[in-house]
Amino acid sequence: MKFQAPKGVSEYYPPRSSAFELVRDELIAAAKVSGFSLIELPVFEDTELFTRGVGASTDVVTKEMYTFEDRGGRSITLRPEGTAGAMRAVIEHGLDKGQLPVKIWYSGQFFRAERPQAGRYRQFYQVGVEAIGLQDPEIDVEVIAAADRGFKNLGLKRYRLEITSLGDAASRSAHRKELDLFLAGLDLDEATRVRAQLNPLRLFDDKRDSIRSQMASAPLLLDFLTESSRSHFHKVQELLTELGIAFTINERMVRGLDYYTGTTFEFVHPDLGSQSGIGGGGRYDGLMGELGGADLSGIGYGIGVDRVLLACEAEGVFGAEKALDSLDLFLVPLGPATKRFGVVMMQGLRASGVKVDMAYGDRSLKGGMKAADRSGARFSLVIGDEESSSGQAQVKNMKTGEVQSIKIDPSDNYLQLSRFIFDSKVR
Ligand code: HAM
Repeated sequence: MKFQAPKGVSEYYPPRSSAFELVRDELIAAAKVSGFSLIELPVFEDTELFTRGVGASTDVVTKEMYTFEDRGGRSITLRPEGTAGAMRAVIEHGLDKGQLPVKIWYSGQFFRAERPQAGRYRQFYQVGVEAIGLQDPEIDVEVIAAADRGFKNLGLKRYRLEITSLGDAASRSAHRKELDLFLAGLDLDEATRVRAQLNPLRLFDDKRDSIRSQMASAPLLLDFLTESSRSHFHKVQELLTELGIAFTINERMVRGLDYYTGTTFEFVHPDLGSQSGIGGGGRYDGLMGELGGADLSGIGYGIGVDRVLLACEAEGVFGAEKALDSLDLFLVPLGPATKRFGVVMMQGLRASGVKVDMAYGDRSLKGGMKAADRSGARFSLVIGDEESSSGQAQVKNMKTGEVQSIKIDPSDNYLQLSRFIFDSKVR
């Protein structure tokens, strides 16, 4: 029997896994440099956390949750997103009792039973942040800027930022009144009406032509913002402009989760077809209260690492590097005695931080050099009897073919060799 991974999961293995790792780590670095601290969360939670937190009108809750009964008869769900679990942990551990805002980041696997296609998986990766307990427009911009910094540091250029505001409760209720009246006059099937009752904004996201054309003249939430919501949104725009972060306003943006209020945003990449959202987020001012905590506001984002990797590949940001985490050095020992010498030498070099591996098995010089080539190492070094006894060896630059004679001396922990390797990195 030959096993296969479950349908629609994203997996990363060498050499592409090093590109995945780089993308994830760069997105995490952007969160850390912005003052967010790690929160490590479980991948499964009580089902009710998500039905309550994410919202009953969403596809995520109605169609996409991996829900099962555990051995104790409890209903458990694999996390489809990170915000609800993060809020649960903040409330449970009283983080909101300390200094505000609470600024946390997380990364890991998330699960949605969607129809798999390029860029849409049933298990996917996110790096996310949440900033809890601050109403200021400045924190909205800080959060957006952290995501933007990650993309920029990766070298991405073609992505776009779209923003909107869902306003405060008063803005939404004023809009809803008008929207409900408008929807009452439309030709909708029963299922769509039920959906609209749960959350009428969902109809802005309906892909069917018949609905799209009817919704073209629907009243827009942005036109119903209260004075304070309008002013908040205006400040967000001003500050983004001041920071040089380009954006467009998408007045019809609908996020896939129900908890959003106020500033909401999405980063989209034009090269990813229909799965163009590389990250998104926004304010969720009622969520903590809804989940039994203090009535604190919050804002955050989730970035899809899988999609950012696809975007990086589409833009060619990794250049022609064979493997991003390639070895510094590959040893080719000739014969059993030199193999021992090689193993000892590798330990010495690794202690100084040189990334080194060697050809195992009894290979010929030709076979050993082939292995060196395949390894993607920047340098190779052949160790025969002569090299191990004389303490002098030839280091070969695998790109240029250039050869350099270097002292290899166990008594100084191969200092000359490790210096040579590090110097060549700096250049
Ligand atoms: P979301 O927009 O549902 O937001 O997901 C965030 C990102 O995760 C998306 O922009 C996309 O890049 C990626 N993503 C979502 N579903 C999939 C999938 N099936 N396959 C591959 N990538 C996917 C959230 O999850 C919110 N928790 C974000 C947030 C945090 N809002 C406030 N705080």
